[in-house]
Amino acid sequence: MWPDRRALDLFEIELPILQAPMAGANGAAMAAAVSAAGGLGSLPCAMLSADRIREEAAAIRAETDRPFNLNFFCHAPEEPDEATLEAWKARLAAYYDEFDIDPATPVTAPNRAPFDAAMADLVDELAPAVVSFHFGLPAEDLLERVKATGAVVMSSATTVAEARWLEDRGADAVIAQGSEAGGHRGMFLTNAVASQVGTFALVPQIADAVSIPVIAAGGIADGRGVAAAFMLGAAAAQVGTAYLFTPEATISELHRAALAHGSADETALTNVFTGRPARGLVNRVMREVGPLSDAAPPFPTAGGALAPLKAKAEAVASPDFSSLWSGQAMTLGRRQDSGALTRRLASEGLARLGGSPG
Ligand SMILES: Cc1cc2nc3c(=O)[nH]c(=O)nc-3n(C[C@H](O)[C@H](O)[C@H](O)COP(=O)(O)O)c2cc1C
Repeated sequence: MWPDRRALDLFEIELPILQAPMAGANGAAMAAAVSAAGGLGSLPCAMLSADRIREEAAAIRAETDRPFNLNFFCHAPEEPDEATLEAWKARLAAYYDEFDIDPATPVTAPNRAPFDAAMADLVDELAPAVVSFHFGLPAEDLLERVKATGAVVMSSATTVAEARWLEDRGADAVIAQGSEAGGHRGMFLTNAVASQVGTFALVPQIADAVSIPVIAAGGIADGRGVAAAFMLGAAAAQVGTAYLFTPEATISELHRAALAHGSADETALTNVFTGRPARGLVNRVMREVGPLSDAAPPFPTAGGALAPLKAKAEAVASPDFSSLWSGQAMTLGRRQDSGALTRRLASEGLARLGGSPG
């Protein structure tokens, strides 16, 4: 039996394995497979329209009647001024030249919309069992609306202060996101990238600071990591990068190949792709422009000027300008389907904890 049942009881799931929502990298197929296996599947909604979210939620429900999570971003969007956007284009001008792209090409960043009233309507309509947020929580009235649907609410914390803030505002669980994690840092009370804390130090300190269940995230990719999460005071593990190796991941072949050849010391936190720090495999644009650049315009607009470069490079099978999100534990990834991975993480974790399946 699991030594801590709080997350299992809160989410009404059998296995304390949460599949991390991964915008652009997973859809209904992965979420449904994880939930059907007894974990908690997640649908990342930040880059989807309301209609797509409806379709994806229906696709999950066609496969399983078990709980699943809808995930949203809740950053405060910042309008970049023209000068900032121009300076960013100037920083990338040599690459436009190299690829023969007209610098006057109009650009738009891939949409990453924050949670708003329309999305609150959708949560009301779809009534998911769980709603998770990244970059804090939405405004109080919107959060109240989500809670009124009966959904369990959680969000990521990268510091003890963020975890306390989430608990004080009514989160039912907190995801302690260590700096090993792939994708965007959920940081929202701090900009201090260099002082972001690793999972091993973050989880027990957050577990001591809050009374709601803590979910460990960042660098967990096998049973050893799951067991360690429990030993550190977590009641579940949220796993992202390991699921990028499953056939259900919706990433490009270039991304898959980069992950297969990556190693733990080849990722970095970078803001060049979106304007916010995120962990990915180091590639040319990260090496030459970043990994952290003061010239990157605010989230998510930095991606606009990169889009034509990404398209040209990918057309010749080059990942030089693509975001290759990855956590530091990518070499532990195995090609295995999402349901089997969920069961393996749980059974190997439980065995390490000395428990028996139950
Ligand atoms: C490709 C990718 C995309 C991600 N997108 C999101 C997202 O849309 N929403 C979110 O809350 N977290 C996102 N994350 C972060 C995860 O929730 C989680 O913190 C992280 O994957 C855990 O670390 P790991 O990758 O080492 O397992 C993403 C992570 C990756 C790898």
